[in-house]
Amino acid sequence: MQKVKGTYDVLPQESNQWLFLEKHIHEVMKKHHISYIRTPIFEYYEVFHRHNEASDMVIKETYDFEDRSGRKITLRPEGTAGVIRSIVENKLILPNHILKTYYIGANYRYERPQKGRYREFFQTGIEIIGEKDPILDAELISIAYEMIASLGIKDIVVKINNLGNSDARKQYKEALQLYFEPLKDQLSEDSKHRLYTNPLRILDSKVPSDQALVKQAPILNDYLSETDQSYLNEVMHILSQQQIPFQHDHNLVRGLDYYSHIVFEIQTNIEGFGSQNALGGGGRYDHLVSELGGPEMSGIGFALGLERLLLACNLQGIQFHDDIQYDVAILHMDNHSKKYAYQIYKYLQQHKIEVNFDFSNKAFKTQLKNAIQTRIPFAIIIGEDEVHSNSVQIKDLINQTQVKVNFKDILNYINKR
Ligand code: HAM
Repeated sequence: MQKVKGTYDVLPQESNQWLFLEKHIHEVMKKHHISYIRTPIFEYYEVFHRHNEASDMVIKETYDFEDRSGRKITLRPEGTAGVIRSIVENKLILPNHILKTYYIGANYRYERPQKGRYREFFQTGIEIIGEKDPILDAELISIAYEMIASLGIKDIVVKINNLGNSDARKQYKEALQLYFEPLKDQLSEDSKHRLYTNPLRILDSKVPSDQALVKQAPILNDYLSETDQSYLNEVMHILSQQQIPFQHDHNLVRGLDYYSHIVFEIQTNIEGFGSQNALGGGGRYDHLVSELGGPEMSGIGFALGLERLLLACNLQGIQFHDDIQYDVAILHMDNHSKKYAYQIYKYLQQHKIEVNFDFSNKAFKTQLKNAIQTRIPFAIIIGEDEVHSNSVQIKDLINQTQVKVNFKDILNYINKR
């Protein structure tokens, strides 16, 4: 049996990285007083397939199926729509209240797998509902940036743009169609298709011939209202005050259908990262809450890809100091003393000592060798004598000294040392 294409296993030798990363995420979120929310991995089809401007994801990338009673179900391709569905359904939106939630979880997209791109992948994200203000947008971006930078990842930049309102985008799309139509034959197949479904997506095509044409294309900024232009300027001004490296990228449009107004991506140029260089991205959505049955209320959010964060850490040689450091190893001489040794192991564990117990029946010498190799500072040694006298031998594996200690004094002795 093999795993499904585009999926991967987290094996014991790499699982510490994952646990470390998840702990880091919870800590940053806690620091910013953002509440954890968990929604199902699958939702009704309509949560992700809303009637809207065409979006590539909505058209072809989701895992859709019918359950046994014939209801159409979709595995979530991203966190936002499910979280907003839940917030609306559970009536969490209150007047004059800013709701901040975060999530961590698996997502599913039927994309062509490549470096940094999987069919099952993990994201953490934040959604903030209830206010539309440049300070809030800058705050969200700065949390996304902090989440990455505080891991020690370098060479990252925030790309930011303003997609404006739907009128601005409509005019801009028309301008793009006018520009690209005479050049249609030079466009890639995907971009030809997008010319009539969603011409904005031609702007973030990775095909070099498309990119060459995009260079001369009209820019969205020219179609924005003055208010929207100054909103973006204000967000950028706050980011520079926070010393967050950013660039105004006129071609940043993002792949999901619900964005309006501010969008951003955090990209890396770490060598060896591959073409999937977005560690995360997000933006404002003015209509998603109402499309999912809630009031007209703007929200903003982002998601970071956890596989890509770990890839960046590994490429930059960032160490995860989360390996267990044992205080003491329990070694037994024979099978009879193993039972007593096990009791001591459980006793010390209950008292929050990091104890290593060898469940195998290896020879005493091998157990000792392993403890020394693992750099455990102390060994508790148990043989026949210790079982009978209700005591243990404690050997300092660094100084090579050894003392006999009564059972009732073990904890005290270890804690002191
Ligand atoms: P997204 O740009 O589709 O946005 O995904 C965010 C991040 O998830 C990407 O930058 C990337 O790191 C990671 N990612 C996406 N697809 C894959 C994949 N197939 N394999 C590995 N990693 C992947 C969203 O998902 C939005 N929901 C973000 C958002 C939240 N916008 C507003 N609120």
